[in-house]
Amino acid sequence: MAVSVVTGATGGLGRWIGLGLARAGHTVILVGRSRPAGEAAMQWIAQQVPTARLELLIADLSLIAATRQAAMLIDARFPEIDLLVNNVGTFCTTREVTEEGHERVLATNHLSAFVMTRALVPALRAAAKTAGSARIVNIGSSASDRAGIEPDDLEGKRRWGMVRSYSQSKLAMMMTSFGWAARLEGTGVVSNVVHPGAVATKLVRASGAVGLAWRAMSPFLLSEEQGADSPLHACLAPEFATLNGVYVKHRRPVRANRRTENKTLTDRVWNATETLAGG
Ligand SMILES: NC(=O)c1ccc[n+]([C@@H]2O[C@H](COP(=O)([O-])OP(=O)(O)OC[C@H]3O[C@@H](n4cnc5c(N)ncnc54)[C@H](OP(=O)(O)O)[C@@H]3O)[C@@H](O)[C@H]2O)c1
Repeated sequence: MAVSVVTGATGGLGRWIGLGLARAGHTVILVGRSRPAGEAAMQWIAQQVPTARLELLIADLSLIAATRQAAMLIDARFPEIDLLVNNVGTFCTTREVTEEGHERVLATNHLSAFVMTRALVPALRAAAKTAGSARIVNIGSSASDRAGIEPDDLEGKRRWGMVRSYSQSKLAMMMTSFGWAARLEGTGVVSNVVHPGAVATKLVRASGAVGLAWRAMSPFLLSEEQGADSPLHACLAPEFATLNGVYVKHRRPVRANRRTENKTLTDRVWNATETLAGG
């Protein structure tokens, strides 16, 4: 029985990804920060998949300590994890700092994925040994496609902008996702990034000035269900069990930001991430 973890699963795309995995027969651990929203999401999935095996874990994934603790709880309960979907994401219109002192967008979109992945690698490797493969699917964004990145200023202390911080966090996440792909090569664990498309979710609706632009585009936005299609494809399609270190749009691997091919740069981003994420 496959076991999957989905972060940011209490709403938006994550809830639909959880539903798709439950439909595929996975045990799904939904991770989010709101218990009422989490219970509602579990109920919503169970109504459609009465046989679903669901668990809810409450954690504020903008916090490294809380993310680490959530991962430890998952690891203690499930020694084998077949699929980790790092979906949690946020967009801020002003620079916010978490109670741990990290810039909120980077912490939520990038550091949480890094910390969760690092903690669950042993369980993913164990599942790959048993089942032949395991997957890490990171929900990226086309906002990273042309983004720049400053490894020594990932938190935007020198220069911060709402689009810049979001794009840079997604590029950093992509670089470390490919970093995991390289480090896990040959273990049966693959690590890929998926852009879901432009989707009418809370994240888009809540994004202030940019939200106005998005609202103008709203007739062209995908529904949450449509947005979950490519991520679910990368999670479930047999051919994605062996594709490693790719960037996916519309269900297909596409070329990522060329900066991801610059090893010196990606190593600097990996090292900066390790420093920010702590031990
Ligand atoms: N929508 C798009 O067009 C689009 C495009 C490209 C990529 N993406 C990416 O897709 C992913 C999902 O986004 P979405 O559009 O579905 O956004 P969403 O509707 O805002 O959903 C995000 C989910 O993450 C949860 N969350 C946010 N901050 C959290 C935290 N600190 N701790 C725990 N859970 C937290 C939210 O819970 P709360 O209800 O408690 O906030 C919600 O369940 C993100 O990584 C996003 O960057 C989205």
